[in-house]
Amino acid sequence: MRKISLLSILVILVSMFQSCTEKVETDLTKTAFIPKPTSVTASGGAYNLANAKLIYVQEGAEGLLPTAEIVAEKITQLTGTEVEIKTTNSTPSKGIYIAISDNDQLNSQGYELKIKKYIASITGADAAGCFFGAQTFLQTLPVKKAESPIYVPTGVVTDSPEYAYRGAMLDVSRHFFNVEEVKQYIDFLAMYKMNVLHLHISDDQGWRIEIKSWPKLTEIGGQTEVGGGEGGFYTQEQYKELVQYAADRQIMIIPEIDMPGHTNAALASYAELNCDGKARELYTGTNVGFSTLCTDKEITYQFIDDVIRELAAITPGPYIHIGGDESHVTAHDDYVYFVNKVQDIVKKHGKKIIGWDEIANAKLIDDVTVQFWADVENTTLGVEKGAQVLMSPAARAYLDMQYDSTSHLGLHWAGYIEVDHGYNWDPATLVEGITKENILGIEAPLWSETVTNIDEVEYLVFPRLPGYAEIGWTAPSERSWDEYKTRLAKHGKRFEALGIDYYKSALVPWEE
Ligand code: ACM
Repeated sequence: MRKISLLSILVILVSMFQSCTEKVETDLTKTAFIPKPTSVTASGGAYNLANAKLIYVQEGAEGLLPTAEIVAEKITQLTGTEVEIKTTNSTPSKGIYIAISDNDQLNSQGYELKIKKYIASITGADAAGCFFGAQTFLQTLPVKKAESPIYVPTGVVTDSPEYAYRGAMLDVSRHFFNVEEVKQYIDFLAMYKMNVLHLHISDDQGWRIEIKSWPKLTEIGGQTEVGGGEGGFYTQEQYKELVQYAADRQIMIIPEIDMPGHTNAALASYAELNCDGKARELYTGTNVGFSTLCTDKEITYQFIDDVIRELAAITPGPYIHIGGDESHVTAHDDYVYFVNKVQDIVKKHGKKIIGWDEIANAKLIDDVTVQFWADVENTTLGVEKGAQVLMSPAARAYLDMQYDSTSHLGLHWAGYIEVDHGYNWDPATLVEGITKENILGIEAPLWSETVTNIDEVEYLVFPRLPGYAEIGWTAPSERSWDEYKTRLAKHGKRFEALGIDYYKSALVPWEE
């Protein structure tokens, strides 16, 4: 009797243990990573997140501490326990370890993530690689606070990006987004290993950056937005705060001063920038192509010199974007003369130039990048003149295009962009004559005529943004919509846990 009951207890215990262990996922290759890594191999075990109470950072390596802090904060959110960060000059055997790799085979921005039973180590080719490896590790964790124990499958991820530049643009001119909202946008990019935020900080409807030598730009030009709202602007201190917040997430901010067109806010602030010497009215509509700086006045170039000088001084990244699009009321020769002069000004202040594809009509100095948005001829002309290309085809990559005719936000002048259409293209084959060697990277712009707050931004950005991140990161031979959509489906819960108001496309088999 006694023997049988002991045996039956044992059987019950074994089956309980099995049912517990069945819930533990030990196959790392089943994790829905976005962007898809170069290689994932599973080793069949599990790492208990309780080991992650300590994050070790390689002593003396620059730029790794913010990554450790971001990982620590996330683990604390998920487990409720504090995580300590220490520097070390030896490889630990337990916890999390973040270091620059001594493997010189790793490509720039690449990393290796090795998850073993007691240690998760992230070794990057550089600090950026470490941050991206950390993001991969975070995607192995539950999407929201969970009971202990939390297990992570063991294995190795080896990874590096297809393109060095993977960006998104935010138009803060048509509608203004405050510092906290821009930080949220930066967080979205960081989750998916994007590394550039292009800020469109001036346009007809608003001038959004403090320029100390031309104060009326923000006193007058920053005071409204589309629809007549109160607008706003960033002080230089606030802009620096954004630059630092982005840099901690390995994201470079590229500011755009759009010119000579898209300048009504400046033309309303300073009468002398107009050819007729008369200040324009502030503009709160959504038309384009009606404004121009006066290209043959010396004061125009003094103005640009001051703006670029002040902006360059607070922008550590190498680029300034000079706009150049849709200058429909600037005569062609005046446009070319203007863009030539502005390039010299930007160069004088030590920065490289990016401009929309129209700037290819100017002479183009060395190291210019042409941002393809609409015109293939302009873009190929730019390549002929030695420019690099940034791929932002409006019909594929504009985040403000509606998903379909029922989308309650967005525009459709470049067509509708359902999630599959946004994903299913290859930057290196989209435009005849433009190949991978010509391409700096990819950027998905969000124009803000129809979006007024971060919730509305979220609806247009998600779920398309992860797709643009993957196009920039993952080799085209490794990408297919049918496989991608099953990974994206698993990110729906992640969006929900983060409070992201995403578009629940019927093309994606969302997990309930
Ligand atoms: C643009 O969409 N006007 C660059």
